[in-house]
Amino acid sequence: MIKFNKASITQLEEKYLLDALHGNVLSGDGKYTDMAYEALGKRFGFERMLLTTSGTASLEMASILSRIEPGDEVIVPSFTFSSTVNAFLLRGAHPLFCDIRPDTCNIDEMLIEELITPKTKAICAVDYAGVAAEMDTINRIAKEHGLMVIEDAAQALGSTYKGRFAGTLSELGCFSFHETKNYIMGEGGMIVVNDESLMDRAEIIREKGTNRRQLIRGVVDKYSWHDIGSSFLPSDLLAALLYAQILRFDEIMDKRMLVWNTYMEELKDLEQQGLIGLPQIPEHCTHNAHMFNLLLPTPEARNEFGDRMREKGIQAHICYVPLHSAPMGQSLGYHEGMLPVTESYGKRLIRLPLHAELTKEDALTVCEEARKILCTLG
Ligand SMILES: Cc1ncc(COP(=O)(O)O)c(C=O)c1O
Repeated sequence: MIKFNKASITQLEEKYLLDALHGNVLSGDGKYTDMAYEALGKRFGFERMLLTTSGTASLEMASILSRIEPGDEVIVPSFTFSSTVNAFLLRGAHPLFCDIRPDTCNIDEMLIEELITPKTKAICAVDYAGVAAEMDTINRIAKEHGLMVIEDAAQALGSTYKGRFAGTLSELGCFSFHETKNYIMGEGGMIVVNDESLMDRAEIIREKGTNRRQLIRGVVDKYSWHDIGSSFLPSDLLAALLYAQILRFDEIMDKRMLVWNTYMEELKDLEQQGLIGLPQIPEHCTHNAHMFNLLLPTPEARNEFGDRMREKGIQAHICYVPLHSAPMGQSLGYHEGMLPVTESYGKRLIRLPLHAELTKEDALTVCEEARKILCTLG
């Protein structure tokens, strides 16, 4: 069986976890949280960041920080995970779903402006498959219309856009360290607060609406309730796990990249024959080998390909069921037929296994089986 995903855990994770377990702080914001910040800051140039309990939580924090209110509208792709949109719905906003670009499957920045109304408050762009959205254009549009921009960089730790790291490309960057991501805490996430003026409030929102962090820093001698918020800070145990993963950043990235590059190299000729589409990385972006998608010619071909790969013991999964055509999207007034690229790609994309425990031989086996199936698809 070639598994779709498997976390890469070594003695380093075990060592730090055990140390954290016997440390002074089992709740949030202990020494491993600080060590993780230092490592992340050094590696990616993040200046202000807060670990959270999930990518979902970081998006919910971003939504509160953006002062989203009932009746506001937020422009979002439909080709994303539910959390990208739930974060705004929870504050009473209405999502304005935007179609995606056929090359990166990211929000099509050329379609954003026509969606903007006087009620629009923010744009949330997703760096799908660890490839950054066209953030310069998105930021320019947002500036012209006075909108906030949130970068859902859940999948994109380590990726770059025009030489800048994903997560630093707008006011707020949201990451996930869920088990399915490249670098993990089991469940976990992080918000990078690029707009300095939002940081004090971010700390308060993350600590149940209190200024407890100011007490810990010695800035105040007692803490109290200042704002809305929730329990968005993760246990230091999980920060210890993340710290080990960040120290192993290059090793994990190299192993994933070997698999990604093997897929690309081995399947190139099938793309040239028109049997599949392969991932496209714009020249001004680097990716982090988060995902490897194949684009099949039809939904039927995609489904048959997935079934036959699984019969061969290779886990291949579909990407997203577009949010606008899912039951919740329909209850918001959306329906199939509104976003042609999203709908077509949602039905034709399939993800190959990709994780740091796969070897080059595993990747070659996946390609060999994929080739046999693609050349005989009904
Ligand atoms: C684009 C995107 N946004 C948000 C999330 C939510 O992250 P988490 O699972 O850590 O809550 C995910 C995770 O799957 C994601 O892929």
